[in-house]
Amino acid sequence: MSTQSLSGRRVLAIGPALAGLADGPLAGAQLEQATLARLIGVTAAEADLIIIDADAWADPALAAGIQALTISPSPPPPVLLVGSHLPTAVVRNLFRLDHSDVLEAPYTPEAVVAAIEGLLAAQTAKTAAAAPAPAVPQAAAVARCWAVIGAVGGSGATTLAIEIANQLCGRQAKEKSVCLIDLCLADGSAGPYLGASPTLRVADLAAAADKLDAAMLQAFVTPVTKQLDLLAAPRDPQAFEAAPREAILRMLEIACESYDWVILDMPRHRRSWSLEVLGGCDEMLVISELTVPALLAARSLSDEIERDLGSGQKPKIVLNRLASRMFGPAPSMAEAERALQRKAEGGVSSDWEAAAASVNLGGPIATHRPKSKIVKDVQQLVDRLAAHSVATKAA
Ligand SMILES: Nc1ncnc2c1ncn2[C@@H]1O[C@H](COP(=O)(O)OP(=O)(O)O)[C@@H](O)[C@H]1O
Ligand SMILES: [Mg+2]
Repeated sequence: MSTQSLSGRRVLAIGPALAGLADGPLAGAQLEQATLARLIGVTAAEADLIIIDADAWADPALAAGIQALTISPSPPPPVLLVGSHLPTAVVRNLFRLDHSDVLEAPYTPEAVVAAIEGLLAAQTAKTAAAAPAPAVPQAAAVARCWAVIGAVGGSGATTLAIEIANQLCGRQAKEKSVCLIDLCLADGSAGPYLGASPTLRVADLAAAADKLDAAMLQAFVTPVTKQLDLLAAPRDPQAFEAAPREAILRMLEIACESYDWVILDMPRHRRSWSLEVLGGCDEMLVISELTVPALLAARSLSDEIERDLGSGQKPKIVLNRLASRMFGPAPSMAEAERALQRKAEGGVSSDWEAAAASVNLGGPIATHRPKSKIVKDVQQLVDRLAAHSVATKAA
């Protein structure tokens, strides 16, 4: 006798004797045998059900294990405690959990099935009733995705990614239509520049990657305005190592199914997923400032990306912080294009006051200094790119 509803579900079995249930009530489930220590911090994302054999453990250890479940910051899966000796204090603690049951030995396989089905059904009913419909963006066919990558550090990639995302928001009537994703996972600055607190916990994303869907993605998103959502991680020097390639690619796939526009603030240094991500974008913008080293780096970076993608896709170069030549020997736009050996897609004026004011106040330059030349230049850039993007999609 086995329970239909356990088929393919992950069951944590705490106690060696429970392995015997694999051929009966737990047939079809994915059984993970573990000790009581596994209960510390276990979440419903890791298992669908926990079965604990009370007879396998000394009372104090069992009490500590159940207590670990009751103080867990995120709700554990339903718990079934079985055994011939069920200490009252332990049982009382167990019943503090949202979903728990006990079965006193000797019990029949049918009794185990009934207890499990009761727990799973109660949990499903509660989740369905309690969960307010998450604010999931209305599905777009597939987002248009633009990547922004700096030729050198400080060239203005994050600044322009934010301004571009904000420009696109101004063109959408729909809520939650644009998502800015900061892929500089370890120390991205999109959150701080926007005055928003990043909520993309990379370890949680990695754990949830294979089940990630549009609703779950919303748990990682920080809403910035009605139209703009941010996916960015809190500072963490280990964040790149904690995010496997599959998790990043899955997150981007779901984001592209959820929003109309996805703007990526890409890390300059290549990660295992960089090429795949860039290859999936409609546009790749390499941001350079007007110094000789930055222009040479922009040329090399564009060439490397084009060569390694091997698909004919070419990054476009945007020159940032164009200043009047009165203030020094900066290359002109024409000289810059000679150094780049190609035309630039666009230029963005320098306006330190506007850029500094907006990051200090938290938010796009267009919000705090709407008259800045940066805003007008980004608007023209977005006009050109969007027109091109629409034309290629329609082709
Ligand atoms: N067009 C601009 N005019 C003036 N300052 C700018 C401009 N673009 C960016 N900045 C400033 O340059 C600095 C580096 O920009 P940032 O976007 O963090 O670069 P990156 O992401 O490429 O490292 C920031 O202080 C930002 O405010
Ligand atoms: Mg940056």
